[in-house]
Amino acid sequence: MSSIANRHAALIDLVGEIRFPRDFIFGSATAAYQIEGAMALDGKGESIWDRFTRRPGVIVDGSNGDLACDHYHLYPRDIALMKEMGLRAYRFSLSWPRLLPQGSGRLNQKGAAFYDRLIDSLLAEGIEPFVTLYHWDLPQALQEKGGWYNRDTCMRFADYAAQAAALFGDRVTKWTTLNEPWTFCWFGHALGEDAPGLADGVKGGVAASHHALLAHGLAVPMIRAEARGAEVGITLDLNVTEPATDREEDIAAAARFDGAQNRWYLEAIFRGVYPEDMLDLYGERYLPRIEAEDLKAISAPIDFLGINNYRRSVIKAGVDLPPLNFERVSPPGSDYTPLGWEIWPQAIEDILIEVNDKYKPASIYITENGMATTQETPDERGRIEDFGRADYYAGYIAKVASAIEKGVPVKGYFAWTLMDNFEWALGYTAPFGLVHVDFETQERRLKLSGEIFGRIAREAPGR
Ligand code: NOJ
Repeated sequence: MSSIANRHAALIDLVGEIRFPRDFIFGSATAAYQIEGAMALDGKGESIWDRFTRRPGVIVDGSNGDLACDHYHLYPRDIALMKEMGLRAYRFSLSWPRLLPQGSGRLNQKGAAFYDRLIDSLLAEGIEPFVTLYHWDLPQALQEKGGWYNRDTCMRFADYAAQAAALFGDRVTKWTTLNEPWTFCWFGHALGEDAPGLADGVKGGVAASHHALLAHGLAVPMIRAEARGAEVGITLDLNVTEPATDREEDIAAAARFDGAQNRWYLEAIFRGVYPEDMLDLYGERYLPRIEAEDLKAISAPIDFLGINNYRRSVIKAGVDLPPLNFERVSPPGSDYTPLGWEIWPQAIEDILIEVNDKYKPASIYITENGMATTQETPDERGRIEDFGRADYYAGYIAKVASAIEKGVPVKGYFAWTLMDNFEWALGYTAPFGLVHVDFETQERRLKLSGEIFGRIAREAPGR
């Protein structure tokens, strides 16, 4: 047998061992700005990503999401690919400025009609829609008024959530308020690497985080009121965090990083408090105004927690983002993706167990997991044999199964991502797809990883 045939056979053996409960859901995930295109079509308003990507030098390949995967027009093709893989669910986001071009006020009927078509087509194929309300594309009109620094944005978000739930709640039961508040608050407001491109340090990160959490909390009851039977959750990017050494200063730095990225959100949502050590660390110098009732709103009960997980965080004391003063390290001896992200499947089981032990969410979905490669081109047989990605999925998914066996209530798993798309500041240089997209022709091609993921999705539940 050729070495490719050997590797394939080994993968099939591995995949054949993976078992999940019968009702476990496998799906794929995307986000509006990363795939839709149709940037200024049919009345869509400008988003902060439309604006940010116009700044020279901020996106590595100078690209943007103006056209992206042209999913706005090609969604039937994309749904057919999900169907071909046998996926039971699709996690996507609504573009707030496509529905409400100014962020509030007048509804854009044509935008709503697009999501009607998408949702109806999914349901016709037996694919359950999981809707995310905010995957980073804030209406630019709200940014002009301060964006996530302005408490009013929280009320605008709750109104938008209510309108979306009223429009689609007759067909959609799974609602996620925000995707990865840590990422968009800190990379967008502390570091300036993502939209809106503000490099305001810890003060910016914490202010945006508090308002994002408040927006989430205010939206939860609004969604429930408008969409009967809705199940509402939030997606956090959570990583097990370990000190690089047992030196006291590294242990303390890891605790600060864990506090900023993980506990700040988890404690507020599940316990209605911010962690004491972080309140002390930030103090008056860095904290925004927090009203007495805010944490009550933020801790509104949720039905599920979405977890995005890619790697673990190994942290030592350093100079990043004072007073967090940390540095991320790459432990020697591990394998890394081309983005330098450590491949460490145990991390997904560990984070599931840690979160379940501490916070006991009613249920959990893995809302994202996957890996980037460098750019891929079809071989002479027209195939993309992305063994690295297929191995990654098999390895991580086996660890999710193991967490379930240990009692963690994980109900579903979404691969990031359905198809190669616009990877934010990395433009089109970091493809994560199960499906290859030729951005010249918009041709789609299922990769080996898509075939393997489809096999797991179809065969593992109830095995
Ligand atoms: C997190 C984000 O939610 C998603 O938009 C992004 O593309 C992936 N992770 C990969 O970086």
